[in-house]
Amino acid sequence: MALGVKPIKDTFVGEVEPIDLRKVDDATVTELSKAWNEYQVLVFHGLKMEEADLVAFSKRFGDLEIHVRTEYLSREYPEILYVSNMKDDTGRAIGILSQGEVGWHYDQIYLPRPALGSFLLAHTLPKDKGETSFADMSRAYEMLPQATKNIIDGRNAVQSYAAFNKTYSVPTDKKQTKQTPDVEHPIVRTHPITGRKALYICPGMTTQIVGLPADESQSVLDELFEWTVRPEFVYTHKWQAGDGVMWDNACTMHRREPFDESQSRLMKRTTILPPSDLAVPF
Ligand code: OGA
Ligand code: MN
Repeated sequence: MALGVKPIKDTFVGEVEPIDLRKVDDATVTELSKAWNEYQVLVFHGLKMEEADLVAFSKRFGDLEIHVRTEYLSREYPEILYVSNMKDDTGRAIGILSQGEVGWHYDQIYLPRPALGSFLLAHTLPKDKGETSFADMSRAYEMLPQATKNIIDGRNAVQSYAAFNKTYSVPTDKKQTKQTPDVEHPIVRTHPITGRKALYICPGMTTQIVGLPADESQSVLDELFEWTVRPEFVYTHKWQAGDGVMWDNACTMHRREPFDESQSRLMKRTTILPPSDLAVPF
């Protein structure tokens, strides 16, 4: 079966024609993988997926990560992370990003072996707003002035989950903090499958370019952060019931947009790890 995918924004973001992701054969998974590599973000509409379906579908693309914030995992399917502002009967936040945070980030950039991708399924949506924006970090890298490329090529940057939580979220507990020490990754990430290069930094978690004085590092990072979210690199997804979005986490940064916090929003996410046998795991 030929999979129908329409580009939404040049070659960034593909909208997949109606498809039942509960029943996809191997050939369709191969086509979806190809489309995912090509577009970086795939948008699906009209999905009818329970948690078991979400896990089963996501597993077709790789092993799934169990997120370090175990307090926000689905009780039944720990491979699913809730992203939500909702609270349970005891007043406990059921999901991550519970406080209206809107920071641009890469999922799990703070891990030594970061995620390859994420799948986000809409469950409960506010009446309006609360969109999710995606930035095309490979195009952003490609279009950078050569002088800037010369400064960053071959350099590493420090990625800090602690920094993200300090600015945008609730602190981790002692055990989680120990599990997520700061790490260094190349600023220009080579996609482990397509070989495409992308800027692998984000305002939420990148704190320092290794080897540059702090003030110079900050000014280069600020310049890059401003550059990457220029409108030509960004797609903003307006959610409808039944939508799912799958993004390539090696070359796509994202953020949740603000919404009226008195309304409920619940999204369910799986996180796909890179294959363990890649020569360049990164
Ligand atoms: C995520 C995330 C944003 C959103 O699931 O990793 O950042 O719009 N979600 O819910
Ligand atoms: Mn995220």
